[in-house]
Amino acid sequence: MADTKSTGQNSLSGRRTLAGRCIIVGISGGIAAYKTPVLVRRLREAGAEVQVVMTENAHQFVTATTLQAVSGRPVRDSLWDAAAEAAMGHIELARWADLIIIAPATADTLSRLAAGRADDLLCTLRLASRAPVMLAPAMNNVMWDHPATMRNLQRLTEDGCVVLGPDSGPQACGETGPGRMQEPEALFSAVSDYCLSFTDWNSLATPVRSGSRSGNLQGKRVLITAGPTREAIDPVRYISNESSGKQGYALATAALRVGAEVTLISGPVNLTPPEGVETIPVTNARQMQDEVQALLPEADLFIGVAAVADYRPEEAKDQKIKKLQGGKKGLNLNLVENPDIIAGVSSSKHRPFVVGFAAETQDALQNAREKRKRKGMDMIVVNDVANPEIGFNSEENAVTVIWDGGEENLPQSSKMRLAEAIMDRIVACFVDQLATANPESVAE
Ligand code: PMT
Repeated sequence: MADTKSTGQNSLSGRRTLAGRCIIVGISGGIAAYKTPVLVRRLREAGAEVQVVMTENAHQFVTATTLQAVSGRPVRDSLWDAAAEAAMGHIELARWADLIIIAPATADTLSRLAAGRADDLLCTLRLASRAPVMLAPAMNNVMWDHPATMRNLQRLTEDGCVVLGPDSGPQACGETGPGRMQEPEALFSAVSDYCLSFTDWNSLATPVRSGSRSGNLQGKRVLITAGPTREAIDPVRYISNESSGKQGYALATAALRVGAEVTLISGPVNLTPPEGVETIPVTNARQMQDEVQALLPEADLFIGVAAVADYRPEEAKDQKIKKLQGGKKGLNLNLVENPDIIAGVSSSKHRPFVVGFAAETQDALQNAREKRKRKGMDMIVVNDVANPEIGFNSEENAVTVIWDGGEENLPQSSKMRLAEAIMDRIVACFVDQLATANPESVAE
C-alpha cells in the first residue's frame, strides 16, 4: 500500500498525536464491544488511520455501520470478501498496520490467538503482521480467573502481546469482579503512550534505545530527496529506475513526527505528499540539484533518499526518435554524467548534517562504507537491493545504518517503521554532533 498517510501536527513536545499511524482495531464478540466505537473515534481524532476488523460474533454487539461511520472506512470481517480483498488483500492489510489493538478480546479470541489459529480474518492478520499487538480482555470474572484463560494470557504475553487490563467491577452478567474491558479513554492513552515511547516496533520488549528521541528536531529544517529522476531521451522516452518514493516519503513523515520543518524534493512518484511537508516536484537530476542547492542555506539536515540517475543522454531530442529505416540496426545513446547532488551538499559552504542512502547489489556494507567517505556523508543507510522483497518499489525494507561511531542493522520491516528507527539514529548522531560543535546549542 502506498504511504499516503496524512500527518497533522507532529511535535513530540506538543500535544499528543497519532498522525500517520495505521492502526487495526479488532473487535471480538463481547458486550464491551458497544464501547469500542469511542476508542475508534479517539484514535481518529488523534490523527490515526483506523481499520476496524470484526469477528463474526462481534456483529451481535455493535453494528458495522456505526464503526464504518467513526472509522471512515468499511469494516473488514471476512477472509472471503472478494471486493475487500481486491482493494487491499489481508496480507497487505497486515503489512499496513503499525499497531493492532483487539478490544474487546474475549476468552475465545485469546484462546485462538494463543494457539496461533488463523481461522478468521482477525486472527490471520495478527499472525501475518509484524506490528505490535495490544489486547484488552473482557469477559465474565470466572472465565477470566479460569486456568485456561491464564495459560492463554501467559502464552500471549510471552509472544510479545501487551495486555491492557481488565478492570474490576460490576459486570453485564450481574456479577462483580475482574473482567471488565478498560474504558476507551484508558485504552486510547495506552496506545498513545505506546506509540510515542517505543520506536523499535519489532521488539516489544526493547525499551527506547539510549539517545532515541532524546533530542527532537523542533525548530530544525530537514531537506529530503525522494523518488527517481527521469532523464529524457526524447519527448516520450527517458532513463529512470524503479524507485517509488515510499522510503523517502516515510522519512519525511518520520522527520515531521520529531518536530522538524520538512521539505521534500521529489522525483515523479504516485504518492500523496505527507500533510505538513512542503513538497517540490522535479523530474530530472539537474532540476533536483538546483532545488537542493537553492534550499541548502536554510537546511540543518539533508537526507538523500532519491535514486538519482548517475547518467543522462547527452542530448534530449526535441522530436520523438523514429525507428531506423532501410535496414540500419541499433541506436547509440551517448550518456554523460549527472551532477552528484549529495557530494555537492557535503562540500558546500552551508554544509548541513548529511545522510545518504546506498542501493547496493553486492558487497553492500563494504561499498557503503567507502561511499560514505567518498561522498563526505555523516551517515549512510544501505539496502541490499538484490533482494526483491526490499528496496526499490517494495512495501518493506531492511537496512544497515553506518556512521562515524558505529553501525546498526535494522531488520526487515515496513518502510514507515524503518524510517522511524533511522530517524532516531539520525537525531542521536545529529544531537551528538551539535553538542560537540557547540555545547550550548543542545542545552535543555
Ligand atoms: O523509493 P523506494 O521504492 O521506496 O525505494 C527506496 C530506495 C531503494 C530508492 C532507497 O532506499 C535508496 O536506496 N535510495 C538511494 C538510491 C541510490 O541512488 O543509491 P546510490 O548508491 O546510487 O547513491 C548513493 C547516494 O548518492 C544516495 O543518497 C543518492 O541520493 C545520492 N546520489 C546519487 C547519484 C547522484 N547523481 N546524486 C546523488 O545525490
